[in-house]
Amino acid sequence: MASPLVIAVRTRQAVVQLAEQSPARIRRALVTQGTRGLGWRGAPLPADVRSRLRAGGAVLAWVGAVQSLDINMLSVISEGGPLLVVVESAPSSAALAAWLATVSMQRSPTLRLARGPLPRCLHPEFRGDLQVQLSGSALPVAQVAACSRCALRHACAGATSGTAVLPRAQPVSNQFDWVQTGPALVAPLGAQAVWPQGVPAAERMRHLWLLEGDRLRRFHCAAAAWSDADLAHTTDELGQAWLDVSSKARLDDFAADLAPLRQLHPAEDNGDGSWRPGVWRRDHGDPFGAEETRLLALIGGLRGLIVDIGAGPIRYLQTLSDLIVRGHVRYLAVEPDLPALERTAAALPGALLTQGIGEQLPVRTGQADHVLMLRSFNHLHDVPAAFAEATRVARPGASLLVVDNVAFGLLRTPSQLARAHAVPVSETPFEHYRNANADAALAAIEHTGQWTVTEVRAVVPGAANQWLVRAQKR
Ligand SMILES: C[S@@+](CC[C@H](N)C(=O)[O-])C[C@H]1O[C@@H](n2cnc3c(N)ncnc32)[C@H](O)[C@@H]1O
Repeated sequence: MASPLVIAVRTRQAVVQLAEQSPARIRRALVTQGTRGLGWRGAPLPADVRSRLRAGGAVLAWVGAVQSLDINMLSVISEGGPLLVVVESAPSSAALAAWLATVSMQRSPTLRLARGPLPRCLHPEFRGDLQVQLSGSALPVAQVAACSRCALRHACAGATSGTAVLPRAQPVSNQFDWVQTGPALVAPLGAQAVWPQGVPAAERMRHLWLLEGDRLRRFHCAAAAWSDADLAHTTDELGQAWLDVSSKARLDDFAADLAPLRQLHPAEDNGDGSWRPGVWRRDHGDPFGAEETRLLALIGGLRGLIVDIGAGPIRYLQTLSDLIVRGHVRYLAVEPDLPALERTAAALPGALLTQGIGEQLPVRTGQADHVLMLRSFNHLHDVPAAFAEATRVARPGASLLVVDNVAFGLLRTPSQLARAHAVPVSETPFEHYRNANADAALAAIEHTGQWTVTEVRAVVPGAANQWLVRAQKR
């Protein structure tokens, strides 16, 4: 595919001022900006301005929504040299079609049409003559309703890519609550057959018991967003039930705030009308701490250029800082959240921090020795695009480390729940698009066909809710 024509979009006033320069200076300005095209929005440029800019080598581009690109003016301002009309948005397909029909009837030989950030998916019939890329102009994609439903929102260059709306996943929570109901009971018969009266059969999967000494505490999950199947998978199959032992509204240190639990047995229908409730007890160990120690060891062993996708509030600062100071690594963090990068910038001198997304990495092909995706997999809009990018930037022999978490349930008292609910929703937005286990990352890696998987650690009962996949680029 030919490279798109890059157009620097400036205010109309800035374009008029540039036209006052000599042709040589205009040319130099274009070269410095890495563009051949000069675009403006608003009223047409006067003839003398157009001719001076053209003398400086500029391809002129009139940029705007179809309703602001006056068809009667097109033939006028395309006189005396080429004019590119960049359509930014259309009120509807019908309006664009009508506009195109009229333009094509009175089209002059010097007039060329192109799409701006108008996504191809919206108007596939309008191919335009040229591929353009607008620089110096924020994509007004928010104006296009379909974009808010499209996972390609950030990646779509409008004119040059995007063939269909890629359905955008709904954000999901990665945590649900089991809330204690009623007082603790003395456990009869070794915790067998404790089933309080009045719990409907359909609700049975939504209860569990915690055995503490000779006492049983009953917990109930009322979270409607979590189906019985979700609960059974997360709780019984993956063992992800944790006891909140903190007095915090927001948990920020899982190793300290959560006590591990082990399932004695899942809830079971005895087949004779009776029911055995699921029972759990406190467990020993520090699964979160063990995971972190292992990750630190892996990261501490890296050498060369690290590209950290979704670096966020960067963890492992001490380890990374040591590696950078000793010259063992160059570290590039790619993260969409600018404030998060700014907060850690001071703590990690020598690191390269850049605002960006995994789906479009600002890294040259084959440069990275290591690609990290630490707890950002579940945040990606477009998993295949991100893995295509990770694959592109990795050199042969490079390593890939993907780590993330499955959902988990928290056993809480009503007062702990009330404290958590007191935090405004705006401070705890759902940021995940999935609560994948290792198999999802494995599938994404294998889909690229360019990595050899060297280690997979999926979440299992007794472990933290964190999984890991490592691979080496072939
Ligand atoms: C849970 S944080 C992980 C931060 C850090 N890597 C860690 O291990 O703690 C997830 C990060 O992914 C970032 N993120 C969200 N969407 C992303 C995308 N499309 N590409 C890359 N990172 C993204 C979020 O802004 C957030 O900082």
